[in-house]
Amino acid sequence: MKPLIIALALVLAAPLPAYAHPRAPRDLRELAHQSGIRIGTAVDIAALRGEADYRKVLNREFTHVTAENAMKWESVEPQRGVYTWADADTLVDNARRNGQRVRGHTLVWHNQLPAWLTAGVADGTIGNDELRSILRDHITTEVRRYKGKIRAWDVVNEVVEEDGTMRKTIWLDRLGPGYIADAFRWAHRADPQAKLFINDYNLEWNAPKIETTLALVKDLQARGVPIHGAGFQGHLGIQYDYPGDWANVMRRFADLGLEIAVTELDARMVLPVTEEKLETQATYYSRALTDCLSVAACKELTVWGFTDRHSWVPGWFDGQGSACLFDENLAKKPAYRALLAVRSPR
Ligand code: XIL
Repeated sequence: MKPLIIALALVLAAPLPAYAHPRAPRDLRELAHQSGIRIGTAVDIAALRGEADYRKVLNREFTHVTAENAMKWESVEPQRGVYTWADADTLVDNARRNGQRVRGHTLVWHNQLPAWLTAGVADGTIGNDELRSILRDHITTEVRRYKGKIRAWDVVNEVVEEDGTMRKTIWLDRLGPGYIADAFRWAHRADPQAKLFINDYNLEWNAPKIETTLALVKDLQARGVPIHGAGFQGHLGIQYDYPGDWANVMRRFADLGLEIAVTELDARMVLPVTEEKLETQATYYSRALTDCLSVAACKELTVWGFTDRHSWVPGWFDGQGSACLFDENLAKKPAYRALLAVRSPR
């Protein structure tokens, strides 16, 4: 054969580099497949049940789901010993039917605890030993119920303060710092396959929080505690600079052997909405995806709700909103298109 033909044959036979996909992804599900990560969303169960258009977009676009509220303690055990699993079950069943994996959120937190628990601790009718066994039973019961159906659990949520001290909660106060190791061990015993995460906000940029959380993970690992991942909530606001060091922070956790996930991404803005703000917002979403894709250990990017019709932002941040990928009518915003335009470096 002539050298030219040989050269040509070699070029044609060479596999395409991983990023050279034949065409741009049509939707987030295709983007997820092409880039090799899961793209997820928090789910409002009432909307899932009651709104056909919401359900359609949810199941078309996403390959991972998190219950926005339905797996929190006040939701699953509103009265002591009375469990209400219907909402969480609805999410898990819908996920199975639609090829979605599930993130369990969350086992140990200081918010959205049932009143019987907080009141009992406050008035002294629940003592410290009893509190510890209540926490163990809660974790064991919930993790066991969904054994094999939850890919990853947010075992502890927001346990470090902004100043890098351990957050002062009933758990730290009554059980001491060992509650964190206990929680991971109990969860692991209940479902040895589930990936167990520590999850927090502002971990994208806040140095004291980052250093304390890294030290905490190392300490847990040194003691043989089963911890497998670090979750970055990613509640961003476009009135603040994008956290430009985020990929490096992810890498520091990945270097400890942890899986990385963006667990609650949104990018709110001060209202009113303008075209310019929507364009800025689009860059926050695409940079977050780019950061995740630049770290091999980052396997999931989940948004905290996909439509402005059901977003926690207006209720929690005065005068702010429009934080999601789709507007109230489920029209795609510039941020959605910006995600589809991100090319995977993997
Ligand atoms: C929020 C929900 O979105 C709201 O519906 C609820 O009223 C309060 O909690 N960090 C977390 C999430 O880990 O659980 C929170 O979700 C948002 C901040």
